[in-house]
Amino acid sequence: MSLRLGDIAPNFKAKTTAGEIDLYEYLGNGWGILFSHPADYTPVCTTELGKTALLNNEFAKRNVKVLAVSVDPLDKHIGWVKDINETQNVEVNFPIIADEDRTVANLYGMIHPNASETFTVRSLFVIGPDKKIKLTLTYPASTGRNFIEVLRVIDSLQLTANYSVATPADWKQTEDVIVVPAVSTEDAIKKFPKGVKVVKPYLRYTPQPNI
Ligand code: BEZ
Repeated sequence: MSLRLGDIAPNFKAKTTAGEIDLYEYLGNGWGILFSHPADYTPVCTTELGKTALLNNEFAKRNVKVLAVSVDPLDKHIGWVKDINETQNVEVNFPIIADEDRTVANLYGMIHPNASETFTVRSLFVIGPDKKIKLTLTYPASTGRNFIEVLRVIDSLQLTANYSVATPADWKQTEDVIVVPAVSTEDAIKKFPKGVKVVKPYLRYTPQPNI
């Protein structure tokens, strides 16, 4: 059965471009992104890994460690990383798992046999400090993911983990957020001193509380 939101992210040890990694040790008490790529030396994957490397500071600011997976061997990864650095003008600064025996791919349901028997699809998991799955994304091989969107979701996840709020459609940092239905308007006014705007009894906004 596939992994679902709230499930514990299974731990594993794997061979990577940065040596052997134990997932839980690698993540420590922070957040993580584990994401798969169909194959090395492929164009869309090259741009995805380049973009992720480019955003490394943004992930680090949010205490998020990045870990990529591909079912190709380590020597192929090492050669490919040189190409990514050269063509995307970056330095790939996160490990890539060499998942030749598909241990990680199978553990996380990254192979969708009706799409491809051999290669992983573009799966992405955000893992919280409690080691639970907070986000799953599944894209086909032909569509590169939007890593700005991944950062946006992480901002929402980190905010809503600490405050009784949810984020509306297309929300971005500094925009107003929604008071969760479980909080009464009377309590919301006490909880959110910056103010509560009641549009409908079930639709209440407050300024982002953590800025
Ligand atoms: C790519 O990363 O470019 C790719 C990989 C597999 C199928 C199609 C595209």
